[in-house]
Amino acid sequence: MRTLRTVAELRAALAAPRRAGTPIGLVPTMGYLHDGHLELIRRARAECGEVVVSLFVNPTQFGDAADLEAYPRDEARDAALAAEAGAGILFAPGVDEVYPPGFATTVGVRGVTEPLEGATRGLDHFDGVTTVVTKLLNMAGPDVAFFGQKDAQQALVIRKLVRDLDLPVRIEVVPTVREADGLALSSRNVRLTPADRERALALSRGLRAAEAAVAAGERDAARVRAAALAAMTDFAIEPEYLELVSTDTLAPIDVIDGEVLLAVAARVGDVRLIDNTLLSASVAPEALAATGSHH
Ligand code: PAJ
Repeated sequence: MRTLRTVAELRAALAAPRRAGTPIGLVPTMGYLHDGHLELIRRARAECGEVVVSLFVNPTQFGDAADLEAYPRDEARDAALAAEAGAGILFAPGVDEVYPPGFATTVGVRGVTEPLEGATRGLDHFDGVTTVVTKLLNMAGPDVAFFGQKDAQQALVIRKLVRDLDLPVRIEVVPTVREADGLALSSRNVRLTPADRERALALSRGLRAAEAAVAAGERDAARVRAAALAAMTDFAIEPEYLELVSTDTLAPIDVIDGEVLLAVAARVGDVRLIDNTLLSASVAPEALAATGSHH
């Protein structure tokens, strides 16, 4: 595996595989790779003859300078892990390569960026994500780019970006990789103290409680939410948001009919964590009538 720092080097390295018609896969990351990232890289490797992993801690998507500062970094370790998982190129540009002096353009998606993460972190966060992802897609020109369901809203925003701007790439979304106890893998987990690592289970336990409520026949979104909230409160964790929303528009829903997204964010100690699950159920017509819904 080669580590490249400039767009010119990246384009030169990809010229031959592109000419040969070898499918190129891109896995954008901010590094400190864990098994969730590696699953994306393995998926890319299974489908694409050439795999580029980008490693760039994008400053424009961090609202908070302290959060950017605290973001864990270890390029040597990332390079070894990415190579092992099947990457051919690690693209690790410096901040000036991505944002040279005078940089003045923002790519912004509206609508699906506004609730959940947009409402808590502000629109600048997703503007930072969509701008850097547009640039990475233009730099590498991949056939397929891989994103994690862990960041469900981000994946939806990227799909919308690609559709709206006719970007010539297929987006693939990979299921969330979890620890044995349910905690979703995240680069931020290493910043949890041992006590907070226990409390961090609040998110996945809340999601599991909601799934159990739906499996037991509950279709009312408020009652499913209450079940999740009660499970989180057991860990003394108060969510920043805990919402059942449409998988397409992220608009709040009242009744679970079809597939809906349950998304959660919470601060655990100093660390902000997010997680989500897809709840799926069909509602019998008489049950819908009983809830007074107009679906
Ligand atoms: P980062 O947080 O490093 O995540 C890189 C990719 O890994 C994202 O697509 C994310 O959804 C995925 N991922 C993270 N944890 C995962 C898990 N437990 N299971 C499966 N996939 C997981 O997301 C970003 O970086 C940035 O916003 C980026 C897209 C690179 C733009 O800067």
